[in-house]
Amino acid sequence: MEEQRAHWSSSVGFVFAAAGSAIGLGNLWKFPFITWENNGGAFVIVYLLCIAGVGLPIMMAELLIGRKTQKSVVGALREAVGPAWGLVGAWGVLCGFILLSYYTVIAGWSLYYFARTVTWTVEGFPQGTSLGEIFGEQSANGPLQLLLSLGFSAATVGIVYLGVQKGIERIARVFLPVLFAILLLLLLSSFGMSGSGEALAFIFHPHFSELDGSSVLEALGHSFFTLSLGMGAMVTYGSYIARDQSIVKASLWIVLLDTLIALFATIIMFTVIFTASMQDQVGGSTVGMLFIALPQLFFQEGVVPFGSVLAPLFYVLVALAALTSTISLLEVVVAYAIDQHGIARHKATILCGGAIFVFTILAALSFGSTPIISTMEIFEGKPGWFSTADHFVSNWMLPTGGLAITTAAGWFMTREATESELVDGTEPRWFRYGVWRLFIRFVAPAAVAAIIIRVILGGDFS
Ligand code: TRP
Repeated sequence: MEEQRAHWSSSVGFVFAAAGSAIGLGNLWKFPFITWENNGGAFVIVYLLCIAGVGLPIMMAELLIGRKTQKSVVGALREAVGPAWGLVGAWGVLCGFILLSYYTVIAGWSLYYFARTVTWTVEGFPQGTSLGEIFGEQSANGPLQLLLSLGFSAATVGIVYLGVQKGIERIARVFLPVLFAILLLLLLSSFGMSGSGEALAFIFHPHFSELDGSSVLEALGHSFFTLSLGMGAMVTYGSYIARDQSIVKASLWIVLLDTLIALFATIIMFTVIFTASMQDQVGGSTVGMLFIALPQLFFQEGVVPFGSVLAPLFYVLVALAALTSTISLLEVVVAYAIDQHGIARHKATILCGGAIFVFTILAALSFGSTPIISTMEIFEGKPGWFSTADHFVSNWMLPTGGLAITTAAGWFMTREATESELVDGTEPRWFRYGVWRLFIRFVAPAAVAAIIIRVILGGDFS
């Protein structure tokens, strides 16, 4: 007899799990940095427009394909659109596999910084410490990197092993509120710092003259990454939605929470940086801001009130956010193994988790500990598995997968098929199906196609 498909226990449980997937290193690590690089203001407005005009409609499309078919991404696309579309699903599963293999490594760093900042809180911050050196040493320490990513992978596997309700949903229900609480505490304390006004002006005061086409595409590309779109993660989570739960409302909540968290994190980080007048030392990399500039500022005299207590909390926050994303990435692959190959969840989780970890080893050793691995170059200027994978996922996999899913929902599925999922009596009164259809048929595909064209012409969004 066929086993009954697992479902989220309630709409709230589902929103927590999906928001947990969306909220991750993209919000805390990537968004603040690209906002910094693109001079805030106008970039933030463009980002918000991309989220609302492209991200939100695609979120609804992925969830509806999942809920309609009650299958994970390969089976869902086959059933909803046609047999050949299973390939698009397989592309998504591969993307989850690759993305998880390196995402875990950065997640592991947050564990390291948690442990490190706890030590400094207890023993005091050693004068003259160079955070740049500390970062370089830890990332080039092979055994340490393997240990950290093994720990993180094991936690991810452990949760997915427990299943949809008992594992994924339960963890999200506990972790997300904790994450919010820590973030609010940090946000409130940032309003008391002297750099707060300057930071808010940087983030929210637009200077449109500074905006160019590539910033617009960067904002667009990031809106995919941050909402976990373009690879079927939301199709998979959507397949566990029961028929009486609203896709439109859930999508709005997920997108809203993800956006708020990204903005809060950015406000906090920039406030600290402006308060310490460290604008020039943020460094030219994403890593520089989160793992080099910030830890130091938390411990610098007179910058962050109670900084030495808040610092470890901040890295717990990063680790929790990352964990609810890694479980979602693993679930994409595991759900595929369960649905398409009939493997039982426990076995599927261990097999998939183990296979992915082999590539995590390559990513973990990409930072100088093992020269053969860290210099291996497939794409020019992207040495090591870590940069190679990040480059391939952000530039090629998410945009092409996103384009395929948008066209599937907008052009290949019938109007009745999508309308019956979105307009089923659970949607909010103001929702207009026609508007969604317009965006999913024209606006979203055009925007995503622009990213792909830009990448073909040599652009880089990783
Ligand atoms: N949204 C995640 C973040 O912002 C990253 C991510 C992209 C992801 N695609 C995903 C997470 C799929 C889970 C599933 O960090």
